Amino acid sequence: MKLGMLTGGGDCPGLNAVIRAVVRKAIGSYGDTVIGIRNGWKGLLNDELTELKLSTVSGILPRGGTILGTSRTNPIGKPEMMQTILDNIKRHELDAVIAIGGDDTLRVCNELHQRGAKVVGVPKTIDNDIAETDYTFGFNTAVQIVTEAIDRLHTTAESHHRIIVVEVMGRHTGWIAVMSGLAGGADAILVPEHPYDVDHLCGILKKRHETKPFSIVVVAEGALEKGQDEPVVQSHKLDEFGHVHLGGVGSVLARQIEERTGIQTRVTMLGYIQRGGSPTAYDRILGTRFGVRAVEAVHEGEFGRMVALKGEKLELVPLQKAIREPKKVDLELMKVAEVFYG
Ligand code: F6P
Repeated sequence: MKLGMLTGGGDCPGLNAVIRAVVRKAIGSYGDTVIGIRNGWKGLLNDELTELKLSTVSGILPRGGTILGTSRTNPIGKPEMMQTILDNIKRHELDAVIAIGGDDTLRVCNELHQRGAKVVGVPKTIDNDIAETDYTFGFNTAVQIVTEAIDRLHTTAESHHRIIVVEVMGRHTGWIAVMSGLAGGADAILVPEHPYDVDHLCGILKKRHETKPFSIVVVAEGALEKGQDEPVVQSHKLDEFGHVHLGGVGSVLARQIEERTGIQTRVTMLGYIQRGGSPTAYDRILGTRFGVRAVEAVHEGEFGRMVALKGEKLELVPLQKAIREPKKVDLELMKVAEVFYG
């Protein structure tokens, strides 16, 4: 078989583990040829294809980012682009395409499947918000990075008797915020799923400062204040998938907290540091398992499916189901986090 493979959307630790696993399994077990498509769907539009050999993927397991490059090119709603992609899959004689990406990339994957392309999806995002899979690779690394940051911020917050607001990624969901907040011992966690009340938050912080004069508040970039319709953005300019560039809720919140509590408040925005660098062992293993299973799925003819983790096992789920809506943070987890507020 001749397999195409691409990585789309925001990069994420563990992508290279998947790429390596696909190449090793496809060549090692089936004698396939693997073609790397550069820069997401853009590579299929512009003929940016290159053969991936065993030597190409040697040594990439611990490396962050993606050796294939990525983009947010979106052919949905552009029939000509869609057709070019379908034509190019045929012209390059790709028997199947493995697309590694988040909800946007998987949506394109599903659309191509509806039009007859043989595709298998692999769920990727540090946000962990893809439905039908317990975890996406990259998330564990991001949580580790944020937890280490919270540990560091604790010592400076304590020394200066300050509140520190830590802004983390999470466009639609607060998985990174809640998990790193739990692991780092945050005093309040704000997530997109539950709009927050600033006065209520300030009440918690003021009470805490009667006995402990420092606090850490973790806020996801997509969190909304009660009554607010739109999240705080850095720019309203939309990317090809219609997303604004989020960021800045931490600064707004820090100002509000300082004004209302009179306690000196600082903000740290972790930004892209959460997506960079070497994946954790967990993400290397999950990425490797996903990659191997994706190649098997291709050989089993299980197209239009996504590889998913359910408990300890891998399953194949319909792409259609996986892209329906983002996987929200469990209310139960929020309740556990609340035990440690204040
Ligand atoms: O990959 C998802 C994500 O991490 C979101 O949490 C964030 O809003 C987005 O990527 C930002 O990515 P970029 O600036 O690369 O579009």
